[in-house]
Amino acid sequence: MNIKNVVVIGSGTMGSGIAAQLCNANIPVTLLDIKTEISEKAKNKIFESRPPLLIDKNKINNIKVGNIKDNFDLVGKADWIVEAVVERIDIKHNLYEKISKVRKSNSIISSNTSTIPLKVLSSKMDAKDKKDFCITHFFNPVRYMGLLEIVSEEINDADKINFLKIFCEENLGKGVIICKDTPGFLGNRVGVYAMQVAMTEAIKMDLSIEEADAIFGRPMGIPKTGVFGLYDLIGIDLMADVLKSFTKELSTSDVFHQVAKEIPLVKNLIETGYTGRKGKGGFYRMNKQDGKKVLEAINLNSGEYSPSKKIDLNITETISLKDLVSRKDKYGKYAWSVISKIILYASSLIPNVTKDYNNIDEAMRLGFNWTKGPFEMLQELGIKFFVEKDDKIILNNFIKELYDKNNDNFYGKRQVYTNLETLGKVKQLAKVKKDNKSAFTYEYKNYKIVEFNTKANTLDYDSMDALKKASDQNLIIINEGMQFSAGVNLNYVMEFAKEKNWKAIEKFIHHFQITCKKLKYSDNLVISAPSGLALGGGFEILVQSDYVVSHTNIVTGLVETLVGLIPAGGGTTNMLWRWTQSKENLKDADFAPQKVFDIIGYGKTATSPVEAIPLKFLLEKDKSVMNRNKLLSAAENLINEKKEGYKPPKKPIFKLSGGQVRDKMLNTLEKLYRENKIMEHGMEVGKKLAFVLSGGNTNINKELSEDDIYALELEAFIQLIQMEKTQARIKHTLSTGKPLIN
Ligand code: NAI
Repeated sequence: MNIKNVVVIGSGTMGSGIAAQLCNANIPVTLLDIKTEISEKAKNKIFESRPPLLIDKNKINNIKVGNIKDNFDLVGKADWIVEAVVERIDIKHNLYEKISKVRKSNSIISSNTSTIPLKVLSSKMDAKDKKDFCITHFFNPVRYMGLLEIVSEEINDADKINFLKIFCEENLGKGVIICKDTPGFLGNRVGVYAMQVAMTEAIKMDLSIEEADAIFGRPMGIPKTGVFGLYDLIGIDLMADVLKSFTKELSTSDVFHQVAKEIPLVKNLIETGYTGRKGKGGFYRMNKQDGKKVLEAINLNSGEYSPSKKIDLNITETISLKDLVSRKDKYGKYAWSVISKIILYASSLIPNVTKDYNNIDEAMRLGFNWTKGPFEMLQELGIKFFVEKDDKIILNNFIKELYDKNNDNFYGKRQVYTNLETLGKVKQLAKVKKDNKSAFTYEYKNYKIVEFNTKANTLDYDSMDALKKASDQNLIIINEGMQFSAGVNLNYVMEFAKEKNWKAIEKFIHHFQITCKKLKYSDNLVISAPSGLALGGGFEILVQSDYVVSHTNIVTGLVETLVGLIPAGGGTTNMLWRWTQSKENLKDADFAPQKVFDIIGYGKTATSPVEAIPLKFLLEKDKSVMNRNKLLSAAENLINEKKEGYKPPKKPIFKLSGGQVRDKMLNTLEKLYRENKIMEHGMEVGKKLAFVLSGGNTNINKELSEDDIYALELEAFIQLIQMEKTQARIKHTLSTGKPLIN
């Protein structure tokens, strides 16, 4: 069996997302809808989507469009037919009947339903179709969400299901978990329950939505959207439909019902068009006051909006779960109440919903971006602590058994859903050093691994220390959390800026340069294997590694100018060197500085390796993989391939034309200023960047060492950070997560 041609029926949110991911995997796909105009529009939307659903926009014609009336014969040619139409059983049944008549005998049919049981979907099929029919439940947005649940039943051809699983793992890059036909499968069953608990407990305990999101967020290893932010993102109306379906499908004894009751405030929000970010707003909304945008939060009692408040929980970034739930204040009580209920619910699903509790944890990672699932939370808290903390807890069999056996170390293997040798599995096997608060170092086989461990993996002295120490052996820099690194820790830099301690900033950035140079020139191979954001300082690590093996969903580039700085950890220097070696630069020595001026000046980013190569953020020698779980083994293979006779790169020598090319860049800046595309501060930043890229006070006959350019980078950085406008931009970015535009 092979999948070389796919038809997706239904070109809405999910059908488009699935088609785009097939296109990303170079698999021809046809999107069918009721009318061709609908699927055509969906194709255009895929092309324009942000964040982009396509890895390479040039491949858009891998997607063909049509309608179910005129083009249904294409279904007969497909190896895999994905049904992603509206969640209506009559429409789905009708389609299956038509599919059955034309499909190839060895094809697979799957539905993307999120709520209808497999047995209901297949109830009208004959045994032959039933054998080839399953649910493939993708998450939205398909390119970016790691989870795919395949729901199968006894009657299925097991080889086929296994084939589909491996196909989706290899080609579509998904973490595929095989589930039983139970309501909400694994991800939504626990994820939606968790959201409902977090919401209902917040209401019960009289917490504001900002408070609830602050706790049911990063401190618990949950994305910062928390619960109310996530509700707004998913759509409050869609969540109401999902709840209705759970209420219908689950037995009356299921405790899910306790948290799924209709909430008047929520009903009112939906009725008045406050359905979340896609509507007029939701629990949060953007309002305009005196011409300025203000984020407002709803009061759960009154339904009134007021400006959203930042919550200071007064905790360290690395607070343990035990410390969090042991706090005596309302935040600790809320955390305990929510976590304990989630753990109890998840464990009540063993063994009927799944016998592999690890699959629930991994589903929460892949489908909801949690850093750990309920069973890992239980292991971290300890069974004894969990059971004895609260005498009101009613134990289920799973917990009771662990408690009776006093089994505090029950967890066992991670990521049992895949045969791949993943970072998650290796972390359990490797020797680990945890003496550094910003990074873990693992020793494994013939290499070391460094994984950053700060918020968004921002870099500080400790992260650099870990890198420096680990470069005494072949090294892989990789992350299991969402981001590789969002850059240097600007909070840390701003602490010094507040005291006008420029010397301390200079020392810090210089240390960063030395660390990156150490990576670049060490006698051992350094391979970065990024996924998620690799921006600013994060990119500077990539550009100074020997090879990069990147996940296809990276976002990378040098964004320093957006906060009024320039890259000073070697990013400017190394980009200049890369472009200096280009064909165009052989003809015109001013080409490279101007090109890099353009790339760094605009803070350009690439949203995939395909986009990164033309900008030279990545090189042809670098590799990319669709499945994050393959990053480590791909990096390890590269070490084994390249380690024999490895020699660090030669130090570059630059010849730059100084004032000559600088004048060209200044002309560009002046034009942008005249056209109001940049302001005075932008001009200042541009001038400093131009000074560095032109080689400073030099001429084309003079040789400059790499260190000369590093020194110029650093000097420009220190001058820029002293500007009030730069500091204001950084502060704005740190508090909002977004750069200040103009
Ligand atoms: P949607 O409403 O965005 O799109 C549905 C599409 O199906 C529309 O373009 C509609 O014109 C088309 N359609 C309706 N009847 C059709 C027919 N007879 N033949 C061909 N096309 C037809 O819906 P969405 O959100 O994409 O959902 C699709 C499926 O995926 C549903 O079963 C839903 O439960 C499931 N799902 C949705 C998720 C989400 O986040 N939106 C997540 C996971 C699953």
